[in-house]
Amino acid sequence: RTILLLNGPNLNLLGTREPQIYGHDTLADVEQLARDTAATHGFELRALQSNHEGVLIDAIHEARTSAAGIVMNPGAFTHTSVAIADAISGVQLPLIEVHISNVHQREAFRHHSYVSPVASSIIVGAGVNGYKLAVEQLAYLLGK
Ligand code: DQA
Repeated sequence: RTILLLNGPNLNLLGTREPQIYGHDTLADVEQLARDTAATHGFELRALQSNHEGVLIDAIHEARTSAAGIVMNPGAFTHTSVAIADAISGVQLPLIEVHISNVHQREAFRHHSYVSPVASSIIVGAGVNGYKLAVEQLAYLLGK
């Protein structure tokens, strides 16, 4: 079975983007961490990063037939996208929402998430280790 890892806008810049907030690990590092964690739990991992809302929505739709669940860091779309939230509701797959930073310690516009009401679990402020925790949580939910 497959876990889909989705990263939204600007997360391709991980490692060089505001390292004081997001750390020094790259997107490739994060994807490898998630892949290794998935393998430990007997899952394959497919990873996609996009800066485009529609591409992420298409990937959520495709997951309906190709994945058991989704781990997603929607980036700034977290705070803006009704369309991504609707896509998640539409496919009825368990989704773990991840934010590297503690969004609640940051600007007020980062405190609201359109995704949280449709997420099974939320991991915030754990740094890139949050991806590991998210895959573990998804594996736990899928094993129940
Ligand atoms: C983020 C937090 C968002 O507010 C921001 O727009 C991001 C990254 C995080 O992982 O902490 O792009 O989702």
